[in-house]
Amino acid sequence: MKRVDDFRLRLGNKDYVPIMIGGMGVDISTSELALEAARLGGIGHISDAMVPDVSDRKFDTTFVKDKTKLYKFNINNMDKSVVQFDLERLAEATRLHVGATMAAKKGDGLIFVNCMEKLTMNAPKETLRTRLSAALDAGIDGITMSAGLHLGSFELIKDHPRFREAKLGIIVSSVRALQLFLRKVSKLNRLPDFVIVEGPLAGGHLGFGFDWKEYDLHTIIDEILAYMRAENIDIPLIAAGGVFTGSDAVRFLEKGVGGVQVATRFTVTHECGMPDSVKQEYFRASEEDIIVNGISPTGYPMRMLKSTPAIGSGIRPGCESYGYLLDATGNCAYINSYNREVQANPDLKTVSVMDKTCLCTHMRNYNCWTCGHFTYRLKDTTHKLADGSYQILSAEHVFKDYQFSVNDEVALPPKQESAAA
Ligand SMILES: Cc1cc2nc3c(=O)[nH]c(=O)nc-3n(C[C@H](O)[C@H](O)[C@H](O)COP(=O)(O)O)c2cc1C
Repeated sequence: MKRVDDFRLRLGNKDYVPIMIGGMGVDISTSELALEAARLGGIGHISDAMVPDVSDRKFDTTFVKDKTKLYKFNINNMDKSVVQFDLERLAEATRLHVGATMAAKKGDGLIFVNCMEKLTMNAPKETLRTRLSAALDAGIDGITMSAGLHLGSFELIKDHPRFREAKLGIIVSSVRALQLFLRKVSKLNRLPDFVIVEGPLAGGHLGFGFDWKEYDLHTIIDEILAYMRAENIDIPLIAAGGVFTGSDAVRFLEKGVGGVQVATRFTVTHECGMPDSVKQEYFRASEEDIIVNGISPTGYPMRMLKSTPAIGSGIRPGCESYGYLLDATGNCAYINSYNREVQANPDLKTVSVMDKTCLCTHMRNYNCWTCGHFTYRLKDTTHKLADGSYQILSAEHVFKDYQFSVNDEVALPPKQESAAA
């Protein structure tokens, strides 16, 4: 019976424990979480989602306050097209977050940054170029490009001195998306160093339509492996979405993928950025509490707990402070939904908006409880304590459980005496 530790992920000329902890914005996959993965010989992700806000919280900068002040005049205006990101400040925030993380790195593993194309930030190309370049400037080991096809992303950084040295990869959910991407980058003579294949059971946004139930990660991986073998393309694939035990991971590794990317099991660790009260919500969830809906303004389906405070919330759009989802014309689907409700209910002080949510504000406040399909199994990975709460785990415990477990077993941690311990 094999275990994950019998395999290694080869990137360049080095081998790693084939476990990646996936990027979880906004600062759910903290530096601390990513650093644990690297210390243990695997790969951890930080995320650059809303990085000015993350920087303010970590380094006492005032990026968000300054931006809010600058655009205060526009708060009651529903046309948000004037709200722009200052690219130099965006780069500074990215360099702070990435640089501090890299400075703290220990061990043989790597730290990557997750970079979502859907954060269009009212200037998609310029802001993405700034984010990618600043992460490379600050010494990130690699970049995972996600939430979008990223057909122009390599081009944006092709002149960066680290373009061919840093590990660059993409998340896809179909062979078609991968083919489109490879066709684009072949012109630059620079293939990705890894390809994460994310199936429909993942957390966060899904790269599928609302027919996501009709897809299955093993089938997609088989298709992509067959395509790569036929084309003689040798890039490690990383399987992601619903890999809950070490044995789940082994089933993918045995068919020839290079590694797995996992996230949900780490949402209930001390190192995860969500408040402990939200971690308890994840533990308590039953299968019926986990839904996939269309409230994200990105247009992608998103999986979350049914009790997510973001659902139905009708707060005023917070674009003057945030504005990460403003498209190239300065619009966001939530603004339209919010306006519709305000117009339909002129006498109400607070409206309810059901079809979309103000994702920036709610993610920033940990009020959008996105999660993977198997969140309802988290309670089986720990102890229930005397006060009825669940024992939070350490990232090291979960990482090693993936690395060494067999027979679909999940190792429980040593039991602590009380919730506060
Ligand atoms: C709370 C949470 C937040 C996530 N946020 C992001 C994100 O910001 N960007 C992204 O590319 N993937 C995101 N994901 C997806 C993960 O990185 C990962 O690929 C996926 O969840 C793996 O499946 P698993 O959760 O079943 O292990 C998120 C997942 C979770 C659980």
